[in-house]
Amino acid sequence: MKLDGKTALVTGGARGIGAAIAGAYAREGARVAVADIDEAAAKATAERAGNGAFGLRLDVTSQDSIDAAVEATVRTAGGIDVLVNNAAVFDLAPTVEITRESYRKLFAVNVEGLLFTLQAVARQMIAQGRSGKIINMASQAGRRGEPLVGVYCASKAAVISLTQSTGLDLIRHGINVNGISPGVVDTPMWDEVDALFARYENLPEGEKKRRVGLAVPFGRMGTPEDHAGAAVFLASSDSDYVVAQTLNVDGGNWMS
Ligand SMILES: NC(=O)c1ccc[n+]([C@@H]2O[C@H](COP(=O)([O-])OP(=O)(O)OC[C@H]3O[C@@H](n4cnc5c(N)ncnc54)[C@H](O)[C@@H]3O)[C@@H](O)[C@H]2O)c1
Repeated sequence: MKLDGKTALVTGGARGIGAAIAGAYAREGARVAVADIDEAAAKATAERAGNGAFGLRLDVTSQDSIDAAVEATVRTAGGIDVLVNNAAVFDLAPTVEITRESYRKLFAVNVEGLLFTLQAVARQMIAQGRSGKIINMASQAGRRGEPLVGVYCASKAAVISLTQSTGLDLIRHGINVNGISPGVVDTPMWDEVDALFARYENLPEGEKKRRVGLAVPFGRMGTPEDHAGAAVFLASSDSDYVVAQTLNVDGGNWMS
């Protein structure tokens, strides 16, 4: 097992990609703190993951909530070896209809929340005096713009940039910061994405999902489980010499 004896905190871990990673980490021997704004779903996912996984309420937009989740994880499991910074929200709108409310929400969760969760866990890892792994969930949306998705794309470009800068800074403490860049993944988030595209592009529901799946070189949309292998690799000692990278796990959608 690649993560035997490790403790991992997975934000937004209640469902989708985060839940798949929580399950994979537990199978590799890690004790997982499944942290999500939806506490009941986090607890149910932890139960399914097994190996002593536990659910926590975490709202990454609140510093008090971040500090409490880190403290509860350390109290319960004795430390934190791995952080998966996965919580995020999506929205889309034509440029002339973007609202400040939507902009603030996306940046509060996807960028500010990610950075200050990373900071709190990095402080804990440095205090522990042992190495750590931090994995930020980016997106192909952060690799290039999309006509209706400007704010989400910008938030994910910021995730890739923060992964580079914090990765270069924290490696001197033995903390590897890397990212995963998924493409299009069949999760509850993509159900919301599909419904928004249906409205703005006047498509029947499910049509956008069908089209993006067909366009993936691999031949289909990703599943949450498709991301588990990369997440295990970046959490394990196999990736010790991988620093400040964002790995595309997208069926060939983007090459960099
Ligand atoms: N689904 C895709 O196609 C896709 C593609 C590229 C990148 N991603 C990224 O992968 C990650 C997971 O995506 P997903 O599709 O599984 O999403 P999802 O919406 O299915 O799950 C996200 C989870 O984050 C939680 N969350 C939302 N706001 C939160 C907050 N303030 N604090 C804590 N938790 C919060 C939600 O409750 C939910 O459980 C995200 O970072 C997303 O941007 C997804």
